[in-house]
Formats: sequence, structure tokens, C-alpha cells
Amino acid sequence: MSFDVRSLDKPVIVAPMAGGPTTPALAAAASTSGGLGFLAGGYLTAEEFAGRITEARGLTTGPLGVNLFVVRSSVARPEAIRQYALDLADESEQYGAHLGEARFDDDEWSAKLDIVMDLRPEVVSFTFGVPEAAECAQLRGAGVTMVATVTTLAEAEAAVARGVDVVAVQGPEAGGHRGTIDPGALPPTQPLSQLLRATTIALDVPVIAAGGLMTAVDVADVLVSGAAAAQLGTAFLLATEAGSSPVHRAALRDPQFTETVVTRCFSGRYARGLRNRFIDEHDAQAPLGYPEIHYLTSPVRAASIRAGDPHGANIWAGTGFQKATEGSVADIMASLV
Ligand SMILES: Cc1cc2nc3c(=O)[nH]c(=O)nc-3n(C[C@H](O)[C@H](O)[C@H](O)COP(=O)(O)O)c2cc1C
Repeated sequence: MSFDVRSLDKPVIVAPMAGGPTTPALAAAASTSGGLGFLAGGYLTAEEFAGRITEARGLTTGPLGVNLFVVRSSVARPEAIRQYALDLADESEQYGAHLGEARFDDDEWSAKLDIVMDLRPEVVSFTFGVPEAAECAQLRGAGVTMVATVTTLAEAEAAVARGVDVVAVQGPEAGGHRGTIDPGALPPTQPLSQLLRATTIALDVPVIAAGGLMTAVDVADVLVSGAAAAQLGTAFLLATEAGSSPVHRAALRDPQFTETVVTRCFSGRYARGLRNRFIDEHDAQAPLGYPEIHYLTSPVRAASIRAGDPHGANIWAGTGFQKATEGSVADIMASLV
């Protein structure tokens, strides 16, 4: 491992947040403030991903992390997807947007891995899966520290056996997608505190803790429990440098939203977001199947956001969303350490 996450001036990582919130400015500001910023590779083309790394490099002299989705296979069933598309006809009509094509792709895995090998950010993290052992060996050779997102001790042990340097344990409190590796499995519910304890006892690699951490006390608690650093997403969604949409920002502060839930209705993979009308109406029928369901619902979600409506889109947020504060990354970071 070349870059040691235990060496950060501030043991706070600003989580990768694909789909808008992560910008080069957000990641760079996190690193400049003494923490570690991540670029989110998910959903981008390989070219866009490379452009963002270069842009962030120009904005900070600090370390940079990048995050990749590891999409190997899908559990989508064509008949279930067809049925779900019928269920979504009203949404399509309401927002004046056609449903998207429910297709599979691997998020340009090989091209993005090549970019990591070329541009060599200090850290690369993975979610939804772990690279092959040969790919881990290649990254190790390039001096890039590898972090695997895991949601159980068993996933953590498997990731370390594969060759990663660090695990990021993601508790069920976390906003956004659960990193659960089996796309057909129900997401585990073991609280972050227990998962952190189990992994720090069992493994001798650094452990990053993520999920529901919003305050200096939360950060201090996970550090005392043995975490090498705390990774926070929701706490930075309102940061000045974040690219969170105005609809996302407003919803996080809107008293009509009182809770978050885990749902597969937007992307076909379990993720936590503000409980809204779309979830209430479609969660029960929604099949698993990432990325097919993601592509199917994507135009409707985009149209809902364009219309300024938080009820037809995924408003990802962790359980602590009501504690998110506005301000620069530097200010939020200072309030956490
Ligand atoms: C809007 C949003 C987008 C996210 N996107 C990603 C992502 O692209 N890759 C990833 O590994 N994790 C992603 N996550 C999960 C974070 O890495 C982290 O586990 C989570 O934010 C921690 O919980 P918290 O939001 O309560 O702080 C996302 C989280 C949010 C809130």
C-alpha cells in the first residue's frame, strides 16, 4: 500500500457520490482541507472520468481517491422488467418522459481501470464488487492503494484475500447504494458500530467506517472503535462545492421528508434515500436488476428533477440527513474534527 489512509491530517473522507454531488471541486477541497476527497467514476464515460481526475489534480496538491463500480453480472429477469415498465407507465406520462432502455453494461470497467493505471490517483475504491486478483496485483504494482466497500465481515475477508489494502465498512445507515457484493442478496442490517468492531478485530488491514456519520462525536466514536478514518457522504451533500441538484438540496431541508428508506425501485439495487411518493408507489413491485432498472427509470427521474419535483426521483440520503449543514467543505470538515 503506497498511500496510507492512516496518515491523513484529518481522518475524514468525503465519500464518492456519483450522479451529481461529487465534483472535482468537492474532492479537491476535501483533500486540501487535510482529509481525502474521492471522485465518483460511476455513470460517467471513461473519457469524462479521466477529465475529472485531471481537473481535480489541477485544484489540489493533496491526495486523490477515485471510485469505480464493479458490475460483473445482473440478476435482472426480462419478464419482471417488462412488468415493472408497465407499472411505471403513469410516471412516464406524468413527467412527459419515455422510459429508458433496460440494458446491461459494465460501466466501462476496463477502460476506467486503464485510466486509473495511467493517471495513478493515490487511492481507488470499489463498490458492488472487488476486482480480480490479477487486477489487484496490477494496481499494487502501479502503487495505487485499493479500498473495497463491504457490508459484512465475510465480504471484508474475501476482499482482503483478493488483495485489497483497506476495507471501507458501510453500515445500513448509509445514504446511496449499499455496496453489498451479491446483487440478489438482501442488504445486511448489522449496525455500523458492530460491523466495525467485527472487522477491526478480525482483519489486520486499515478499516474505514461509513454510514450515518454526521457530527464530530460520530467521527470520534468510530476512530475510538478502531477505524482508520470516517467516510461521510450525506454530511457533504449541502457543501458549496458539491454538485447536488437544487431539488436534492431543498428536499434534504424540507420538513415534509421525515425519514429515509432502503429501496430498489430506482436502480434495481438497494439504496437509501428520502422516502417519497415514487418509493411509496413502486417499491413493492420493483424487481432487482442493476443496471437495467437504473436505465429504465433514468429519463423519468431526470424529468422529475427538471420539473423541480422531489417525488419522482431518487433523493439519496443517509439516516442522519437532518443534521447536514451548508458551508464550504473546509468549514464542514473543521466542524467534524
Ligand atoms: C448521493 C450519494 C451518492 C453515493 N454514490 C456513491 C458512489 O458513487 N460510490 C460509492 O462507493 N458510494 C456511494 N455512496 C455511498 C458512500 O460511499 C457512503 O457509503 C455513504 O455516503 C455513507 O453514509 P452517509 O451518507 O450516511 O454518510 C453514495 C452516497 C450518497 C449519499
